[in-house]
Amino acid sequence: MSERPWLREGPLEHRVESLLAELTLAEKAGQLNQPANVSPGDDHDALAAGRIGSSLYASGALGGNERDEGLSIAAIEQCQRIAVEESRLGIPVLFGRDVIHGHRTVFPIPLGLAAGWDPDLVERLAAVAGEEAAREGVAWTFAPMVDISEEPRWGRVAEGFGEAPVLSGRLAAASVRGFQRSIGATAKHFVGYGLAAGGRDYDTVQVGENTLRNLHLRTFRDAVDAGVLAVMASFNDVDGTPMHANRRLVREVLKDEWGFDGVVVADWSGVGQLVDHGVAADARDAARQALLAGVDLDMASGCYLAHAEELVVSGAVPAEIVDDAVRRVLRMKFRLGLFDDPYPRTTDEPIGPTASTRALAREAAASSLVLVGNDGVLPLREDVASLHLTGPFVDDGEALLGTWVLDGRGEDVATPLAAFTELLGERVSHTDGRFSDLACHRTREAAVTVALLGEHPSRSGEANSVADLGLPAGQLEALRQLCDLGKPVVAVVFAGRPLDLTEVLRAASAVLVAWHPGTETGPALADVLFGRREPRGRLPMTFPRSTGHVPSSIHARGTSRVIDFSRDVWGGRYLDALTQPQLPFGFGLAYTTFEIGPPALDRSQVPLGGEVGVQVPVANTGGRPGRAVVQLYLHDPVADVTRPKVELLDWQAIDVDAGATGSARFTVSTDAFGYYGRDLSRRVDTGLIRLIAGPDAAHGQAVELTVTEPTATREDDA
Ligand code: NOJ
Repeated sequence: MSERPWLREGPLEHRVESLLAELTLAEKAGQLNQPANVSPGDDHDALAAGRIGSSLYASGALGGNERDEGLSIAAIEQCQRIAVEESRLGIPVLFGRDVIHGHRTVFPIPLGLAAGWDPDLVERLAAVAGEEAAREGVAWTFAPMVDISEEPRWGRVAEGFGEAPVLSGRLAAASVRGFQRSIGATAKHFVGYGLAAGGRDYDTVQVGENTLRNLHLRTFRDAVDAGVLAVMASFNDVDGTPMHANRRLVREVLKDEWGFDGVVVADWSGVGQLVDHGVAADARDAARQALLAGVDLDMASGCYLAHAEELVVSGAVPAEIVDDAVRRVLRMKFRLGLFDDPYPRTTDEPIGPTASTRALAREAAASSLVLVGNDGVLPLREDVASLHLTGPFVDDGEALLGTWVLDGRGEDVATPLAAFTELLGERVSHTDGRFSDLACHRTREAAVTVALLGEHPSRSGEANSVADLGLPAGQLEALRQLCDLGKPVVAVVFAGRPLDLTEVLRAASAVLVAWHPGTETGPALADVLFGRREPRGRLPMTFPRSTGHVPSSIHARGTSRVIDFSRDVWGGRYLDALTQPQLPFGFGLAYTTFEIGPPALDRSQVPLGGEVGVQVPVANTGGRPGRAVVQLYLHDPVADVTRPKVELLDWQAIDVDAGATGSARFTVSTDAFGYYGRDLSRRVDTGLIRLIAGPDAAHGQAVELTVTEPTATREDDA
């Protein structure tokens, strides 16, 4: 073939169609096939025959839990040369890898990033991660995860941006923009995965389409609107229909209704697992159902490669369905520029971490830290006489990276011990590993002890659910013992999920939720503990009072009864415990204090389609400058369906000097009050709306707004 019109400059769709027209059915099946870990030796013939359209590099089905050998740029380049130079049509292979919260430079886990409430920061660090990965031959990542979940038992909450669709959706869009400066992004897992029964990964999901639309589909829509190139199907079923066979949600909603023209990629063996789900008789039947449902690219199961051709020839799957899937894969390759520039963009520069990526990682890690308790011990004074570091995270770089780190290295981590020693020299003592009698001894001696405890990353992420949200065995007892010695103890809790911190808050002088902060953990921790940076993290998920309180989230909807008027508890209450969360969504302390509100509107009525300005005064009533994160919530008192008691609308971080008053300003469009009603169509109602401004989801001051019919146009007036 001398003439390859698709290689010429031209409109995207022309290039796609001219190439599609050349493909045999066998080559089409090849484009829909994504085996793992292709190599130039083992897979030479398949690559040359055009039977491998894409490949991902991962250690296996649970890639986030096990390291592999790392990427081989040379192997990727050789595979690509075979595909481009030896295959009939020279179509490049699309190489994917899970670059989740950093590549060589590791940023905080996504849940930690969400605690920073900073889309600009998330965009910048996703851009760095994408750039580092691209230089090792990766063209596509399977991130961001945009699953909404109110289930801290589910280990994968670590990988997402928390429970509020507005926060999660904006961060997802930012992450897509950042990654897609150099590689493709994927919004995953479509959809409802965060509702796994009991928080057990992969478990069944019961959810109505209304709740899906009002909560779970929104973040995917945001990612699609941000131009995400791919969406990954989820492992779960929704009310009995596995997502890899869910034509209603994948084809009808995502593709037809939203107009998504990118790739729907299966999750690992998700197509083949339709047999395990008990809805497909065999691999052929699984391939048939998944193709019909709209899953375009078959990750790791091989079912499409084995059966797509025959399914078309026998008429079981219309040829147009396969063509549509291939078109999407080719479109993505064109969009990524693979036809023009198929090989890894290697340079002699080190890939990372570099001074500049470390600076960004430090900023991101510091922003993710959430101060949730402080009796005044923090910030620490830099002239502190002596400081004792203890607990399992004192000097374990690997453990500070978090789940889903495939290419970051523990030895690159600036640990707390390294950072504090650099700052305080011999005034630092430490007891590493487990808590011990020696730790008690040093706690007695030191002016302050910082206890670094919590979950190892292997306790969060994929397939790592827990039945108990308490600290890992023995840690609470050890912490109590230290706290009983009468010296100040600061508890720094590393975790991939909200934990039950009720007793930790009782025992310790101060408590900092630190997630897993990544490469610059130590310096970021020192920055915040010594007050060089103000604590500015706010919780992106509710922290329940106990495991038995799950689910406990801002999604709580209005019920038929307000049982406890004094405490404003909706729905049922517990006899043996307070019902409210231990720490509400949005909560986080500063080193100063703020008074937020009341909000003032620039008008008390707004027509449908109009906008209202909201101004919220913020007084810094403490003795230090600080950063307030002013949160604006919505409550719709009369709607077509039951609505959340509060729903996050917007937020703004503002710096206010000690004793000064600043103000946060929001512009709210009536469209933001929209929701899906009983007939499953989106609506924005006229009538009363409450806007609540405050420091978190449980506290705030409200103002009322009336939404009226749209203003009459001149023509109507005439
Ligand atoms: C399975 C996980 O569910 C998904 O998030 C990941 O991207 C794939 N494996 C590929 O590693």
